Amino acid sequence: MDRYISLQALNIAPVATSSSNSQTASPPHYFHQNPTEVMDSDTESEVLSTTSMPPFSATPSVTSSHTSYDAAATSTRSNSPVPSVISMTDSVRSQIYRSKYGREFNNFSDVYALPADEEEMNRLDQQHLIIVDVMGEKYPPPMADVMADDVPGERKACLDLGCGSGGWILDVARDFPNCNAVAVDLIPMQSLSMPPNLRSEVDDINLGLEHYYGDFNVVHVRLVSSGVKDYCRLVDQISHVLRPGGLIDLTEFDFHIYDGNGQRLELDTHQVGPPWWARWMTFVRVAVQQIGGHTDAATHLWDWVSNHPAFEQPVYREYWMPVCTGPSESDSQQRLSQRLSGDAMSFLTGTRALLLGSGLPEDLVTELVTNAEAEHHEAKIPQYTRMQCVYARKKSV
Ligand SMILES: C[S@@+](CC[C@H](N)C(=O)[O-])C[C@H]1O[C@@H](n2cnc3c(N)ncnc32)[C@H](O)[C@@H]1O
Repeated sequence: MDRYISLQALNIAPVATSSSNSQTASPPHYFHQNPTEVMDSDTESEVLSTTSMPPFSATPSVTSSHTSYDAAATSTRSNSPVPSVISMTDSVRSQIYRSKYGREFNNFSDVYALPADEEEMNRLDQQHLIIVDVMGEKYPPPMADVMADDVPGERKACLDLGCGSGGWILDVARDFPNCNAVAVDLIPMQSLSMPPNLRSEVDDINLGLEHYYGDFNVVHVRLVSSGVKDYCRLVDQISHVLRPGGLIDLTEFDFHIYDGNGQRLELDTHQVGPPWWARWMTFVRVAVQQIGGHTDAATHLWDWVSNHPAFEQPVYREYWMPVCTGPSESDSQQRLSQRLSGDAMSFLTGTRALLLGSGLPEDLVTELVTNAEAEHHEAKIPQYTRMQCVYARKKSV
């Protein structure tokens, strides 16, 4: 697939350019949605949002009410970063999103099949806060050093691949106001309060990261493996995206459910029955694999990073999240499970379209989801997901 296809299909191109910063990447298309900016309307439909922000340019760009349709679709990845004014019209929106089974999904990737609507963004916002609490920190320990303003003439830069609602990269942009932050996803970031040093790009990371090579001090990827076809290649590409001494920070879960002793619950899809979370996850894993997602990336993160010649000082950590508790779980696990409740329920229902799309009959999908919901509330069979995290530094020479 041509790298620029989504841009051309959308007929979107950067509108106005006034300055560039050679330290940052080359977005042919990006959205930076800020409804408080100038609103406009075009001839096709009412404009949903209009935005203008000069990403990382020293000189603020001219805010304009032009829509994307005012510009010729001649963009390439080579000129950038460019101030851009993109209006999201109904017609554009319908090219970014598609509706299925009552939810909205990204329209670009055939691999990533979780929703991309408001409910999902709310889930991701809540999940981000829970993950920060569970990990006890927003960033891995080397982050402060790597992002410090200690290189004269260099502006530090941070890239979040598969940013979702943007919880993590918004923190970065605010906590490190002098950095350039870039958030990439299949859908535009929907934050109402985009910091001026944060840019949202719409792209499929399966198409490669060559346009970012040498541009970033930190690359963060979290819970994106179901939309990535070849995660090992992604790790290798990140090694080129990072500047010397840079930080790679990866977090994934492995699409398995574990019992209260950390033993993997190995089930199959030939039978249907309890434990329901583990059963449901088995069907989800198979469905994601069928469409090309790299479900076992979490299991290999350590090997891919620690054996990669570009990286040093790798650190592995893992965190257990109770999607279901039992009577003998500790109070802290019970509390965490309660806190995860909304996230878990929303994730369950968010996989309906994925499971239906994989060919499962509706009554089976309903049986899986309903029983897993009930199991969570009954709290009799402890079941956990495992988040595996690896961070490392890029060698300086
Ligand atoms: C489960 S969400 C996690 C979001 C965020 N990283 C977080 O931890 O809150 C996965 C996100 O990755 C994005 N994604 C999946 N595959 C992608 C791809 N190939 N290219 C770009 N983004 C992708 C999805 O659109 C979704 O927003």
